[in-house]
Amino acid sequence: MSTAVLFDAYGTSDELYGAEVPVPVPASGEVVVRYTAIGVNPIDWKLLGGDLRDLVPMDLPGCLGVEAAGVVVDVGAGVRRFQVGNAVIRHGRPGTYRQYDAVPAAQEADELTAQPGRFSAEQAAVLPVAAGTAYSALVQVGLRAGERLLVRGASGGVGLAAVQLARLMGAEVIGTASARHHRLLRRLGATPVAYGDGLLDRLAPLGPSDASVDCAGGPQPTETAAELVQPRVRRVTVAWEPGARAGDVPHLEHVPLELASTLDLIGHRPFELPVAARFPLSQAAEALDLGRKGGLGGKIVLLPGATPTDRLHPTSPEGPRPAS
Ligand SMILES: NC(=O)c1ccc[n+]([C@@H]2O[C@H](COP(=O)([O-])OP(=O)(O)OC[C@H]3O[C@@H](n4cnc5c(N)ncnc54)[C@H](OP(=O)(O)O)[C@@H]3O)[C@@H](O)[C@H]2O)c1
Repeated sequence: MSTAVLFDAYGTSDELYGAEVPVPVPASGEVVVRYTAIGVNPIDWKLLGGDLRDLVPMDLPGCLGVEAAGVVVDVGAGVRRFQVGNAVIRHGRPGTYRQYDAVPAAQEADELTAQPGRFSAEQAAVLPVAAGTAYSALVQVGLRAGERLLVRGASGGVGLAAVQLARLMGAEVIGTASARHHRLLRRLGATPVAYGDGLLDRLAPLGPSDASVDCAGGPQPTETAAELVQPRVRRVTVAWEPGARAGDVPHLEHVPLELASTLDLIGHRPFELPVAARFPLSQAAEALDLGRKGGLGGKIVLLPGATPTDRLHPTSPEGPRPAS
């Protein structure tokens, strides 16, 4: 048997409970993956809250989590792409808050990608949502070397990835974030600017940006991007939510094979997402509550192999290395 964190009804993290479930047997075309690290994302609490039930219908009991890193432990008939022992990254469909998962292995299914050896399990687990989304956003706005990009919410998971990928693409980056994250943004090669009242006045002396990526949502992206970035096709928001005011900032459309393309862009160059907090899988509810509070300046991971008595340290305050 193995553990999965499930919920029977939409609501708060109080709905989450640990259940004993059988270790899956792979169907034809599937592999079974034992997860070593699982990324926690805003979509997790949005799914649990039922906010996205029309967009992403879930069967109940449901299982959260849209990304994880792990090791292939069983291979179904007809699978040539992976073998037992391969390190992989799982992404896409919800359901990674568990120890073991049966996952379609075909490239076209786009749920499994080989884990590059340079990344730790923790780093690999948090790449799909943050880095993959940032990559699609930069493609959508057509960012080119030598241009200036405005990233709103640059200190969050997607924002930190957007800053680093844009630098790797040869762009200059201005990133809005709260003051406690400005040092980190400077280390990554971005010019930090505090969000809040007077934002446009603080941005104006820096000159116009060629493109903008909003990673914070709320009412302000339209004003910021629309006033500072022309034309409209060079703006995108990844943070659209049902009920948000329709504005002049187009919503993100993910590119196909997003993670594989993101990894191609990164290659062996510096790229790292700071992990701000680690929890055992059994403390998924605490992890969700911490993430929802925000302001972490990095990602949260669940570690299925850890127990509540393990000492799980936060990441170094130095943060990741800057992109060259
Ligand atoms: N469309 C997609 O496929 C997709 C994929 C991934 C994420 N998303 C969405 O994108 C958003 C960001 O995700 P994430 O994982 O990067 O979240 P996150 O890690 O929580 O980051 C949130 C960012 O917003 C900033 N922020 C907070 N309050 C703000 C305010 N009042 N004004 C301006 N900025 C503010 C934070 O800055 P400080 O911490 O410095 O205060 C931080 O940089 C979420 O809504 C998420 O659901 C969508």
